[in-house]
Amino acid sequence: MAKSRRDRADFYTLKARAEGYPARSVYKLEEMQQHFSLIKAGDTVLDVGAAPGSWTLYVKRNFLSTRGRIVAVDLNPLSLSPLPEGVMEVVGDAFSPEIRKELIAHGPYDVIISDAAPQTSGIRSVDTSRSEALCEAVIFLSEEQLKEGGNLVVKLFQGGGQEALITEMRELFDRVKPYKPKACRDDSFEVYLVGLGRKERSRA
Ligand SMILES: C[S@@+](CC[C@H](N)C(=O)[O-])C[C@H]1O[C@@H](n2cnc3c(N)ncnc32)[C@H](O)[C@@H]1O
Repeated sequence: MAKSRRDRADFYTLKARAEGYPARSVYKLEEMQQHFSLIKAGDTVLDVGAAPGSWTLYVKRNFLSTRGRIVAVDLNPLSLSPLPEGVMEVVGDAFSPEIRKELIAHGPYDVIISDAAPQTSGIRSVDTSRSEALCEAVIFLSEEQLKEGGNLVVKLFQGGGQEALITEMRELFDRVKPYKPKACRDDSFEVYLVGLGRKERSRA
């Protein structure tokens, strides 16, 4: 059977393969990094929904120094073998009480990046509300675990909840912007919410 246009390897898939990244999504983070300077050398970074591991590998290659580390959590194991030095892998539901405890033990974090996506059902309203729930849980984690001045990027499938999530993030961050990287597929309805400069706890 002929492959659909979407199945065929596109520019970003081929580039990811050539550069040794397990997924094309790395170029979304790279573009947001170029645009917002989210991560600095030596930062401690939490990657939520990290598998197969492109975002983690990008942070490791570009920002990990003797200071800092990357904590990568996903329901599934990373496909980075061997696991790069400085990367701590946590397998499980990022929002379960046990895993949350583990993430807290490794925090607090300078930056939280989340490309977490729910299992899709194909029913847009179901998928967007699952994504909003994930997004909300990541924002809550940032409220607890992001250092003052820290940055957040979190993926959202666009439904009706974007404005409410942005309002929530404005309570926590100096600047909040929705951003759609060029590497997002044409037919995708995802957007990233970027929070810059975690406010002091007393102001939040
Ligand atoms: C699009 S993939 C992430 C790709 C990754 N950024 C990369 O570049 O390799 C979305 C991931 O979110 C994960 N995920 C969804 N819900 C999760 C949860 N509650 N806890 C941890 N990971 C979750 C999925 O298992 C999936 O691997």
